[in-house]
Order: sequence, then C-alpha cells, then structure tokens
Amino acid sequence: MTKLAIIGGTGLTSIDDLKITKKAVAQSPFGAPSGILQTGELFGKELYFLPRHGPSHTIPPHKVNYRANLWVLKQAGVDTIIAVNAVGGIHADLQAGQLVIPDQIIDYTTSRTNTFFEEGLKEVVHIDFTEPYCPSLREKLISCSNKLSINCMEQATYAATEGPRLETAQEINRLERDGCDIVGMTGMPEAALARELDICYACIAVVANQAAGRSQEEITMEMISKNLNSGIETVKKLLSAVIPTI
Ligand code: HPA
Repeated sequence: MTKLAIIGGTGLTSIDDLKITKKAVAQSPFGAPSGILQTGELFGKELYFLPRHGPSHTIPPHKVNYRANLWVLKQAGVDTIIAVNAVGGIHADLQAGQLVIPDQIIDYTTSRTNTFFEEGLKEVVHIDFTEPYCPSLREKLISCSNKLSINCMEQATYAATEGPRLETAQEINRLERDGCDIVGMTGMPEAALARELDICYACIAVVANQAAGRSQEEITMEMISKNLNSGIETVKKLLSAVIPTI
C-alpha cells in the first residue's frame, strides 16, 4: 500500500482537516527535521505531514534541513510525496493564486547539501534526474485539477534559487531566457533527494506573486500571504480529489 506524505510550504504549515493520530519527534543521521512528524487522516487516507519551514514558519529556505526531512519520511515508510511550494510567476499567463504542476527544474541554488551520496560509498552514485518529478503522480494531479476545473498550468520549469532574498528584475529576465516559468527557493535539493531515496515526488506550486520586475508593485510578505491564502484553498480542493486516488 502506498504511504503518502505532504510537505507543506509557505502558507501551509498546518492542515485544518487533518485528523492527527500521532506526533513523533523524529531524528536522522543528518540532524533534526523541520519539526514534529505528524501522522493523520486526510480525505479518507492515512498520511504524514511535515511543514518544511517548521510549525511556526521560522526556518528560511536555505536553512531547511532537506536531508533530514526526506530521511525521516523514508524511515517512516513513505514512498510518495506531494510537495507544496510557494513560487513567483515568471510566465506572463500566470496569475497570483494560480496552481502550477511543474515538469522540469533548473537548480540555481549555491549553498545546500544536495545529496545523500557523499560519504562511505562503495562506489560513486549518479541518479537519473532527466524527469525530476514522478510522471504518474503529476498525471494524477493534472487529471484531478482538470476534473475540478482548477486553473492550473500543467507543464512548467521551476527555477530553484538560493534566497532568502527575492530576485532582481534582470535575474528574472535571465531565468526566463533559460526557459523558466516559475521561481521558488525550496524546490531543490528536495526533489533530487526524494529521487535518491526512490520516492515518487511531485510538486504543487502556488503562485504567490508576479516575479520581480513583472509588475509595478513591490513584492511584500503581506502580498505573498494574501495571495497564498486563496491559492492554498485551491490546493486543499485539489488534495481532496487526488488523495483518494493514491
Ligand atoms: N521568488 C522566489 N521565491 C518565491 C517567490 C519569488 O518571487 N515568491 C514566492 N517564493
């Protein structure tokens, strides 16, 4: 039987509908994960929930212990992860609050430990990452969002930046020239670490703002939280449809 986990991002540090049955202080050889690992029932299925930035949203993207998070989920038997990530919209069609199911990543991060395969190896390991997200899980997310008539971009390239600052306008122009549609700070190394552990991993990205230089407005945390509120409601609708199919 599939064991599912949801990794919540900015705007999703808890899930109201989750009937929590267990809370575990998990540890890993790489240190502590972002918080207590919650087990609970959501939309008829038992699953795990871990808020990436901690329960009070205090861990910035570049300080998240991605290895510990992925490790404790794997130890719990998780084989499938839906990650929820707030992003800025680069593609002109994207509006605040809209969902995106990315199919590609370009990694621009610079200071993160990005692999489990670095010490005590019998042999060097290179994982295949041609398709960084799990195609079958992406398909489920897309077909459920279509059934619910959710306005969702079904293919997109996620630019993973280091943060925690937002980008300059020219950095966004460069990301666009590189073929990126959305930009966020938490997509990597999470996706690659999931692949190293052989976990089927897909992302629901929520557009929190138009990327730097793409609107006249200053990007503020207030703007991000306001836009995420409506986007996260749509994420929950999508989760209610997709979870029973997993
Ligand atoms: N850039 C990077 N990460 C983000 C953004 C952004 O504009 N919005 C939300 N996360």
